[in-house]
Amino acid sequence: MTRTRIAATGSYLPERIMTNAELESLVDTTDAWIRERTGIAQRHIAAPGETCADLARAAGQAALDAAGLAPTDVDLIVLATSTPDQVFPSTACRVQERLDVPAGAIAFDVAAACSGFVYALDVADRFIRTGGARRALVIGAETFSRILDWSDRSTCVLFGDGAGAVVLEAAESPGVYSTHLHADGRQESLLNVPWGVSQGYELLEGSRGKVSMRGNEVFKVAVRTLGAVVDETLAANGMSRADVDWLIPHQANIRIMAATARKLQLPMEQVVSTVEWHGNTSAASIPLALDVAVRDGRIQRGQVLLLEAFGAGFTWGSALIRY
Ligand code: COA
Repeated sequence: MTRTRIAATGSYLPERIMTNAELESLVDTTDAWIRERTGIAQRHIAAPGETCADLARAAGQAALDAAGLAPTDVDLIVLATSTPDQVFPSTACRVQERLDVPAGAIAFDVAAACSGFVYALDVADRFIRTGGARRALVIGAETFSRILDWSDRSTCVLFGDGAGAVVLEAAESPGVYSTHLHADGRQESLLNVPWGVSQGYELLEGSRGKVSMRGNEVFKVAVRTLGAVVDETLAANGMSRADVDWLIPHQANIRIMAATARKLQLPMEQVVSTVEWHGNTSAASIPLALDVAVRDGRIQRGQVLLLEAFGAGFTWGSALIRY
């Protein structure tokens, strides 16, 4: 039976760094408040003209380089984003063109907000396990700076831009043990960007095309939901927290990450955290964190990784992986 494994990881962050101090001059906030309430110290911001596909291409290239593979080795691109370059073609198709992945490969986007990477990983894993692809580039890429209301202190301090990628390939043993996806569209009002093509351009005024969030309520649901999904994941694999080497959470807020770690009784030393340096990069946050910890040598081959995410929709999900 075909399984999948992560062959390599890659990531990309735009050059420009925006510190909390810089935000102090934009909105009524302080470095101390942002650090204490979120754990964020800085975030990266895409340059004018630098798009989601640019970030995704760079992360994808880095992952291919790390795997020692060429674009011709890829037959599937699944790209998770809520900030695509355009309505269509998909950002995945633009990445295919920019990386020169051969014509005939499969390429499409997945929209699941901050859970996007876990959704994309699940889809690619199923393609490979059922013989629909041999080698996939799974990318999370975002330019959230373009959908932030820079006058709203409760949201603009939280997010950043970036991209992360993994090369997923067919293997004889896992690899990916299991993925668990969920959604509940009933709580849309707590977190949304209340504008889209089919709702009409006339709505795109003021803050309508920007992130809107009731942060405190989202926070509580996220903590409760993530606690449940990590339990579900371990139970599905007959594993306990002692089997987990690294928790790689979606990087929204250090307090949410710490709550999930506490629930798992996992020390923070086993939690990969990049939120301080990247902020919340939505669908990019997990592959970015994964790549950082692979490259700095913390994550070693053979170790067990628990990925979990929560985002607008609401969507949430997890993956248990032997790296
Ligand atoms: N600087 C200073 N004060 C701020 C602020 C900022 N950047 N943002 C909000 N505040 C204020 C609020 O106005 C409020 O003031 P008030 O008490 O006078 O009304 C106070 O801080 C507390 O606001 P609250 O929203 O209750 O704070 P919080 O402790 O819940 O922290 C978040 C706010 C957004 C950091 C937190 O709720 C959060 O992280 N939520 C989940 C975010 C998330 O995960 N979103 C995406 C899912 S992918």
